[in-house]
Amino acid sequence: MEFAGRTVLVTGASSGIGAAVARRFGALGAHVAVNSAQSIEAGRAVADEVGGSYWQADIADEEQVLAMVAGIIDLTGRLDVVVNNAGTTQVIPHADLDAVTDDVWRRILDVNLMGTWYVSRAAVPHLSEVEDGSIVNVTSIAGLNAIGSSIPYAVSKAGLNHLTVLLARALGPNVRVNAVAPGLVETPWTEAWDAMHDHVAKTAPMRRASTPDDVAEAVLGLTRSKMVTGEVLAVDGGHMQVRG
Ligand SMILES: NC(=O)c1ccc[n+]([C@@H]2O[C@H](COP(=O)([O-])OP(=O)(O)OC[C@H]3O[C@@H](n4cnc5c(N)ncnc54)[C@H](OP(=O)(O)O)[C@@H]3O)[C@@H](O)[C@H]2O)c1
Repeated sequence: MEFAGRTVLVTGASSGIGAAVARRFGALGAHVAVNSAQSIEAGRAVADEVGGSYWQADIADEEQVLAMVAGIIDLTGRLDVVVNNAGTTQVIPHADLDAVTDDVWRRILDVNLMGTWYVSRAAVPHLSEVEDGSIVNVTSIAGLNAIGSSIPYAVSKAGLNHLTVLLARALGPNVRVNAVAPGLVETPWTEAWDAMHDHVAKTAPMRRASTPDDVAEAVLGLTRSKMVTGEVLAVDGGHMQVRG
């Protein structure tokens, strides 16, 4: 019960990586605040399973974010860890510039970058009040290498990696800020990406995609590591290293 008495907010926790992170912290005794925007029933089910609470909010909407964080503080009186996991993409071949409309750019940047910014800014006053308040952003190796499901997605994740380091510098010593940058993960998001799964199984040193729990383990490791801040940890079975 390592996290008993502590509150952990996980955005985008109705499925995939976020749900695995919620389960990990829940099993260690934390009160987990489970967020999603649209999948309310699935989010509630995860919250019930981990004995936490459910918060519907589109993280791209700052008013909804502020209401969510205020509600969590009303309920539990504190916020110790924020895992900024919610994200979105649209699969667009990089050479198809015309398919990348302004609306596509705006939605991806609004959710992935601005949403993470809104949640972090709302959380910081509360994270600063506890011992070892910490933020872990879920970014992507698409933000470290020029790859990924679309150009706006990769740019948003590169921005998040940089935001991670900038916030770590700005918020120390009160709040630590780190990121995990997953490679291919077995979630609903990548279910149809058969060619990519085959490629990773053949070429990555670990010969498989990550499971959501592999990523949750890394999130937990960064949360536990009290002298680690400003780190972006690739969780990709070594795939990025062999791609060059
Ligand atoms: N799967 C991979 O291979 C992979 C690789 C690298 C990085 N990642 C990153 O990992 C994170 C989680 O992805 P996943 O694969 O676990 O996907 P997933 O299973 O599709 O889960 C995405 C979660 O984000 C929520 N979400 C989306 N937009 C939101 C918004 N505006 N406000 C609040 N919640 C929102 C979804 O809930 P609603 O549908 O209810 O909105 C859902 O709970 C993302 O940031 C993604 O970029 C994934």
